[in-house]
Order: sequence, then structure tokens, then C-alpha cells
Amino acid sequence: MKTAWQRGTHPPSCYGAPAMPRFPLILLFSFFLGFGGCREKPWPEGPPQSQDEQLAESVWVSRCAECHGRTGRGDGPGAAALKQKPPDFSDPEWQRIEDDDAELEAVILLGGPPLGYSPEMPANPDLAKTPAVGPLLVKKIRSLERK
Ligand code: HEC
Repeated sequence: MKTAWQRGTHPPSCYGAPAMPRFPLILLFSFFLGFGGCREKPWPEGPPQSQDEQLAESVWVSRCAECHGRTGRGDGPGAAALKQKPPDFSDPEWQRIEDDDAELEAVILLGGPPLGYSPEMPANPDLAKTPAVGPLLVKKIRSLERK
């Protein structure tokens, strides 16, 4: 004689069981959505949020990248014509030696010569009007170090 199972009627203990293996999958999926897909990295890795970040990013792209290159390797389109090549900001060794944020900010605002660097590094005196932007440009430069 056939049991209930063999006749095709599932014993009550089976109901709900197929949902079980799906549960960890849903968890896994929402984990990737929540932590990988949707949440963006903060600037300077991700897009700028505040007005100051937007300004810093646009200054970097429109002025600095010309010589320093967008990723800071010193390979911008204008770099070839320079006698003094810009440093490679992605180099961990450069980041380690040039560890003084205040000095970098001063070079950015005052240009090379007052701090003993080449006059080919231009001054950006207008940035004094937006005091948050200097430190943000230094932050941008720090973020360019290769990992
Ligand atoms: C016309 C080309 C040019 C532009 C534009 C330029 N730089 Fe430079 N920059 C240089 C050169 C060349 C040096 C290397 C100077 C030296 O080593 O004597 C330099 C050096 C630097 C340094 C390193 C100073 C140090 O302590 O080693 C920083 C920081 C810097 N630039 C930031 C910037 C930022 C930020 C901008 C945009 C606001 C910018 N630069 C725009 C050419 C440029």
C-alpha cells in the first residue's frame, strides 16, 4: 500500500520547508544591496556632497589636473612642458615624506617660491576667500595615495 507521500500528498511537515533555504539568500542579497550597491563612498573617493567639496573638486579638475593629472601622478597634459616635474601624489613614499598638511596648503595658496619650490607651481590667492577649500584640496591629494 502506498503512503500519503508516494501518492503525491505532502505530509504536513513539508509545508513551509522550501522557504527555509531562501532565507539566507535574501539576507545575503540585502547585505550586498545595503553595503555595496547603494551606499556611495564619501568624497574624495565618491561624489562631492557639500558646496565646499564641490568647489574643491572643480578646482582640482579645472586647475590642478592640468599639471598634476586627475589621479595626481604628475602626468597632466601640461606637465610635459614643465622643467620641474610635479611630484607623484600616488606614491606612498611621497605621502610619507611630505606629511605636513599645513605646508601643502601653503604651497597651494602661495605658490612654490615662498616655500622653496619651483615657480612652476602657481599661486592660488583667490582660494583664501573660501578657507575650507585649501584643507579639502590637501584631503584630495592625500586620498590619491595608491593602496
Ligand atoms: C602649471 C602647472 C601646475 C599647476 C596648474 C598646479 N601645480 Fe602644483 N606643482 C607643480 C609643480 C611643477 C610642482 C613641483 C614643485 C617643486 O617640486 O619644486 C608642484 C607641486 C605641488 C605640491 C607639492 C608641494 C610639496 O610639498 O612637495 C602641491 C601640494 C601642489 N602642487 C598642489 C597643487 C594644487 C592643489 C593645484 C591646483 C590648485 C596645483 N598644484 C596646480 C605644477 C603645477
